[in-house]
Amino acid sequence: MKKDLLKMDDLSKEEILDILNLADQLKYEQKHDIEHHHLKDKSLGMIFEKSSTRTRVSFEVGMYQLGGNSLFLTDRDLQIGRGEPMEDTARSLSRFLQGIMIRTFSQEEAEKLAKYSSIPIINGLTDVEHPCQVLADLMTIRENKNILEGLKVAFIGDGNNMANSLMIGCLKVGMNFAIASPKDYTPSDVYLSRATEIAEKEGVTFTVTTSPAEAAKDADVLITDVWASMGHEDEAELRTKAFEGFQINKELMALSDKNAMVLHCLPAHRGEEITSEILEEHANSIFDESENRLHAQKAVLVKLMK
Ligand code: CP
Ligand code: NVA
Repeated sequence: MKKDLLKMDDLSKEEILDILNLADQLKYEQKHDIEHHHLKDKSLGMIFEKSSTRTRVSFEVGMYQLGGNSLFLTDRDLQIGRGEPMEDTARSLSRFLQGIMIRTFSQEEAEKLAKYSSIPIINGLTDVEHPCQVLADLMTIRENKNILEGLKVAFIGDGNNMANSLMIGCLKVGMNFAIASPKDYTPSDVYLSRATEIAEKEGVTFTVTTSPAEAAKDADVLITDVWASMGHEDEAELRTKAFEGFQINKELMALSDKNAMVLHCLPAHRGEEITSEILEEHANSIFDESENRLHAQKAVLVKLMK
């Protein structure tokens, strides 16, 4: 494994499957009260420059369950907020901690933190990637469907962080992937060409369309995300118009496989990217997905910090 997990493409297919297997094991151990203090006396710093419910709580509880501890650090309190360069923050924090999770805007800042740190850096979401979420999503799909290879995943919505990490992760493990986004909101060319390359290598299909119906057709898994992500709040009105119709609802579900599952990383905006009816109908898998953040991230922490 590389030192850091900054993007989904940092992991090979084998490493993704290894993490998922360890995550299943750690979940079993937690449910059966089997002690798994793999990170005894180790400390994880958690830098948050954006809000979070699941990421913060799952990393904090995860470190505790692994026998270590965590520090919740925000840009309001850190000297970063007053302009201290990431290069210096990285080198100082590397002397105290054994790992850092960062949630920030720019991928380049997360990469800079990694470059100047001697300890593992984990991306807890940037504007372009959300790899921890995708590991939890894959874990949830495998729990539900028993396999990953050969299934079709349809992502309906914004071609940003979730879509980027999802398409790389799903294609790498041999899933077919279709993404439907409004024309000005597709993933970047860099991500689209990397995804095409992976699909060719794995012998799976990769479809990019502006038609949610085309993407959802016969899909085994439907996934969506908010229309206006953190940092895009001022575009909410514009996006509400652009994303009209890019919604998981019962009409779209009717086109997918009859046993299709629905995932949403949350928070959800009912009535926008997903109807309340579909969210509630698929609440079991959506909140399993939420819980699996804990188990999947514990596996990442063990792999990188042990
Ligand atoms: N899905 C996710 O990352 O949730 P939070 O923003 O609450 O951390
Ligand atoms: N795309 C969303 C994901 C939140 C977990 C955002 O970046 O706000």
